Amino acid sequence: MSFKKSIIGTTTALLCAFAFNASAEAIKIKFSHVVAENTPKGQMALKFKELVESRLAGKVEVDVFPNSQLFGDNKVLEAMQLGDVQLAAPSLSKFDKYTKKLQIFDLPFLFSDIQAVDRFQQSAAGEKLLNSMSRKGLHGLGYLHNGMKQLSSSSPLSVPSDVIGKKFRIMTSDVLAAQFEAVEAVPVKKPFSEVFTLLQTKAIDGQENTWSNIYSKKFFEVQDFITESDHGVLDYLVVTSKEFWTSLPDDIRDELKVSIDEAIKYGNSIAIEKAEQDKQKIIDSNRSTIIYLSKEERQEWVNAMQPVWKQFESEIGKDLIDAAIASN
Ligand code: LMR
Repeated sequence: MSFKKSIIGTTTALLCAFAFNASAEAIKIKFSHVVAENTPKGQMALKFKELVESRLAGKVEVDVFPNSQLFGDNKVLEAMQLGDVQLAAPSLSKFDKYTKKLQIFDLPFLFSDIQAVDRFQQSAAGEKLLNSMSRKGLHGLGYLHNGMKQLSSSSPLSVPSDVIGKKFRIMTSDVLAAQFEAVEAVPVKKPFSEVFTLLQTKAIDGQENTWSNIYSKKFFEVQDFITESDHGVLDYLVVTSKEFWTSLPDDIRDELKVSIDEAIKYGNSIAIEKAEQDKQKIIDSNRSTIIYLSKEERQEWVNAMQPVWKQFESEIGKDLIDAAIASN
């Protein structure tokens, strides 16, 4: 081989190697969420990272940002549309601006327990909702459970008249606002990251949340009472941007979807147990008194809050509400 030929050969090989390295740069996924790591969502996100980094090592890197470190819950979806974050799992109550259909999950006393919520989510009607924000550039990848919501407060709450005139923090959902207005309380829409301080400084009287959020964010340390009301559900939509998702090579996208499904399954498998454990830890702490409702007291809450369904029926759709009822 002549010297000239060998130089050309070496240069071509170097150029090819360079091109390969440039195209083989790992895809970066930022997963932003607002809760603590020791919650169903926190654990699901870490499981996803673990699965992806073992199956797609060198091809995909996942960075998880818990505790609103990267984006608070009122900003993450805008950031996703701008391409600043690739994965998130906001509560189903936080999509109000993007679709009215997901509001179904906020209707008070619609689902009898988390198993009924699961049946609805896995039904054809539930599956269809995953893509209700397609026109807004958001792609739903799956539902993740947290659990049923409880009411915490600085005063004991047993019947609806106990909340008259009291301020409750809610997520950014008009259904949740209507739910508190139905019992003559004052709903205040605020991001999750501000709740502890609002409670501690008594700027608000109470809030609604799951046992794992009340425990992991220490709300029970600044709320004297928690009513076990199970009046609604707090679940999540694992979501990505359509632009990011469709830009992925097919094999990587398929593998990521398998890993997301597996991580969701894992998160869901610990959600119910976690709720029980965190409730017990709150009881054991003696910081907050748990109020258990009698059948009659619970029925008073149902009677007062259920008219909200009619208020949102035309936006959500009667068929969808009927499908949810049928899952109970
Ligand atoms: C809340 O804002 O109360 C919850 O949505 C937080 C969460 O993500 O569980």
